[in-house]
Amino acid sequence: MTSHVMPTYGRLAVTFDRGEGAWLWDENNKRYLDALSGIAVCGLGHAHPAVHRAICKQSEKLLHTSNIYRIAVQEQLADRLTEKSGMANVFFCNSGAEANEAAIKLARKFGHERGIDNPAIIVTDKSFHGRTLATLSATGNAKIQKGFEPLVEGFIRAPYNDIAAITAAIGQHPNIVAILVEPIQGEGGINIPADDYLNQIRALCDKHNLLMMLDEIQTGMGRTGKFLAYQHNGILPDVCTLAKALGNGVPIGACLASGKAASIFTAGNHGSTFGGNPLACSAALAVLETLDQDNLIASAEPKGQAICTGLAELLQNNCHIVEIRHKGLMVGIELDVPCAELVQMALVNGLLINVTQEKVIRLLPPLIIDDLQIKLLVETLAMLIAQFTDQLSPVSDHAA
Ligand SMILES: Cc1ncc(COP(=O)(O)O)c(C=O)c1O
Repeated sequence: MTSHVMPTYGRLAVTFDRGEGAWLWDENNKRYLDALSGIAVCGLGHAHPAVHRAICKQSEKLLHTSNIYRIAVQEQLADRLTEKSGMANVFFCNSGAEANEAAIKLARKFGHERGIDNPAIIVTDKSFHGRTLATLSATGNAKIQKGFEPLVEGFIRAPYNDIAAITAAIGQHPNIVAILVEPIQGEGGINIPADDYLNQIRALCDKHNLLMMLDEIQTGMGRTGKFLAYQHNGILPDVCTLAKALGNGVPIGACLASGKAASIFTAGNHGSTFGGNPLACSAALAVLETLDQDNLIASAEPKGQAICTGLAELLQNNCHIVEIRHKGLMVGIELDVPCAELVQMALVNGLLINVTQEKVIRLLPPLIIDDLQIKLLVETLAMLIAQFTDQLSPVSDHAA
């Protein structure tokens, strides 16, 4: 059947009809274990009763007014987010790319206020920041940029997890005003930097009066075992962007600012019709409350550890495994061969996974995943990886 939806996605041939917790059911009532959570969105799992209740209750009262009026639930959400993050204030929008757009605008205005007419932001290789023109220009992936040139200028690229390269870039470009990085690269292949990477970036930003901007769109909301990943480092960035799991599926993004970054935007500098509307904010408030009440953030690390230990045990003799790595429930299994076909194999077997950077199996299960589901995930995935690598032609390691 022809679809009238623009073909911007390579979609798998499955349509989900309903979900509950870590489970999804398709139109034929086949059940799937969701180890991807809509790419780190449904952290509380599907059809969470607290989110459901919040949305229903709010929709009976009011869905939308406008940001030309005060919005009580938006102010409550900003209070909760600043309390939990240590940041000072929040701009609300509707997606991750929009949150990063706000961050980029903040950095540029910060530069102009310092007398820099052509402000530039350091970004990294393999980063992903979104699909709008500015955010795809910031993204470190040529495939995403191809065909959309001219790119937005004002981004200077350095390798990820390379402080020397950032230091060199700062030395070469006097117009640098900010550094924008993900605390762990998600799309880039679950790349976990050195433990002190963010501390070193913080120190460089302090030394050179730059904004430290963290894209926590994938790492945020408890996924790495802290509410925000920078909280592992005991630092505070100047800007932090959120989206994805903030609304557990209700679209909402946020750009948080602290210190000098918190007073850059003034009335008229930025805006969004839908940003921070009562419906989205009430969903996000329910998400924050549930994360705390159910102690979910603390469970992310032991659950991620259980997945990795289980896989490492079952795959210990598989020579195609390069590395199994994780922080909280951000898990990457790197193979030495392209393995995108595992996604379809898993689907057939009732398991939802993702492969990124061709060779990295990415797992982003909901934080509510339980022990039995973890066992099923580990056993099914290990079995599929073994099946997949068994049918590869033998490695010709004796080739001259
Ligand atoms: C780290 C990061 N930043 C930004 C985005 C873009 O978010 P959105 O698709 O909501 O615009 C994503 C989405 O995958 C992401 O993972």
